[in-house]
Amino acid sequence: MKKLSLTLFLMILPLFLLGCKKEDKLVVATAANFAPFEYKEGKEFKGIDIEIAQEIAKQLGKTLEILDIEFDSVVSAINSGNADFGMSGLTINPTRSKVIDFSIPYYNAAQVVIVREEDYNPALEGDTQALIDWIRAKNGIKIGVQSGTTGAFYAMGDESWGFEGFKNAEVKGFVNGGLATNALTNKQIDLVIIDEAPARIFAATNPSTRIINTYLTEEKYGVGVNKNNPILLQQINDILKQMQENGTMEKILQKYF
Ligand code: ARG
Repeated sequence: MKKLSLTLFLMILPLFLLGCKKEDKLVVATAANFAPFEYKEGKEFKGIDIEIAQEIAKQLGKTLEILDIEFDSVVSAINSGNADFGMSGLTINPTRSKVIDFSIPYYNAAQVVIVREEDYNPALEGDTQALIDWIRAKNGIKIGVQSGTTGAFYAMGDESWGFEGFKNAEVKGFVNGGLATNALTNKQIDLVIIDEAPARIFAATNPSTRIINTYLTEEKYGVGVNKNNPILLQQINDILKQMQENGTMEKILQKYF
């Protein structure tokens, strides 16, 4: 009898430990090819979102595990529960809000255009309509975007996002903005539409390219949370508010800008 209960105990122990382990970790989904928000230096994850996620995990007494996947899969990873939350420069949007919950916003963003140096036109600076007209006037223009992003919806047109799109354009999706910018340099595409902060880094690392300083959109980034976890959503909102109030958020942003 004694032996039986010991065997039973030993059988249950690993399951119990496994259960505990799951409780101790917090999984964040991201696509780490989007500096300054998330990127890799060697094996190390860096960036604004990574640091905020680390702070969230720390405050909740958990170990952060980073699930680095393609951006296109981030929302479904949160929705399916493969990740507890997602931080990926994720724009808050009603279409996405149908499948995941969003925290309070923590960053204001916008889509911008990167062109090759020779196509740069100073008359388009700060004039959104002029920029749109300029793109519309080029028949068969090839636009590069990161698949599944605001930029992709903007270029292709999407009713639920409220974007008309460019019917004169051929839109090419890339796994990340770096590949899109390379394609721009190689003249496979004519321009890239992508979030401003990463665009500045991509343009700076590709000297033959240049940003047009004009905002096509107004967006806010939020933390994505599984819809079945309102407690975590509340905790994340409380932590973000606290970080905004006590200057931690500002400090993290300043480190990367
Ligand atoms: N803000 C854009 C969006 O939500 C692009 C985000 C891309 N993020 C990334 N980690 N690659 O669609």
